[in-house]
Amino acid sequence: MQMDINDLNQDDEEMAKLFENNKLWAEKVRREQPDFFEKLTHQQHPEFLWIGCSDSRVPANEIVNMLPGELFVHRNVANLVLPGDLNCMSVLYYAVEVLQVKHILVCGHYGCGGVSAAMSNRSHGMIDGWLHNIKNVYHKHHQQLDLAATEEQRLDRLCELNVIEQVANVSQTPVVQKAWGRGNPLTVHGVIYSIRDGILKDLDVRVTGVQQTPRSFHIHDDE
Ligand code: CO
Repeated sequence: MQMDINDLNQDDEEMAKLFENNKLWAEKVRREQPDFFEKLTHQQHPEFLWIGCSDSRVPANEIVNMLPGELFVHRNVANLVLPGDLNCMSVLYYAVEVLQVKHILVCGHYGCGGVSAAMSNRSHGMIDGWLHNIKNVYHKHHQQLDLAATEEQRLDRLCELNVIEQVANVSQTPVVQKAWGRGNPLTVHGVIYSIRDGILKDLDVRVTGVQQTPRSFHIHDDE
């Protein structure tokens, strides 16, 4: 792609700002806690895996006021957990098997653009295959969704139902099933964030063991 000199200058300025911000941030952290980076160099011990939306308005660490080292994070469009997604499954595997996190949070947000796109009957190009998974969630719950009084309420309810379905998807993965089989304490939570007021709401759908998941997903290593 051709860029003219003005575009390049603009580009340089934006990047310079980014590096400047980074320097200021690192200095501030070091001022408040001189050994902060030194300690993090050696290891990370996050107790939480965060699976959230890529939306720039839903930044994981900031929302829950956690520092680097406290959250292991995976984000994608509309916070989907699909067993065929090698990226998400690798993050899940590492978080559960190696880091041994105690909590997995699936975090959705109201007004999600991905969920909204899936609700429409237009094609959205190469992302259609991804959105198909949300359409499945819609179809599964269409009776209650079609009753919503307004479009906004319908979208917000689908955002919640999508989180609840992804909590089930996490709970049904072999990685999580095996961790429970070994007796590891591990809870899967569904939460939803409001961009309007910054508040995170618990959807009260926590899953803490195999007994809460359908039998067809159970794993017995001795068989
Ligand atoms: Co979103």
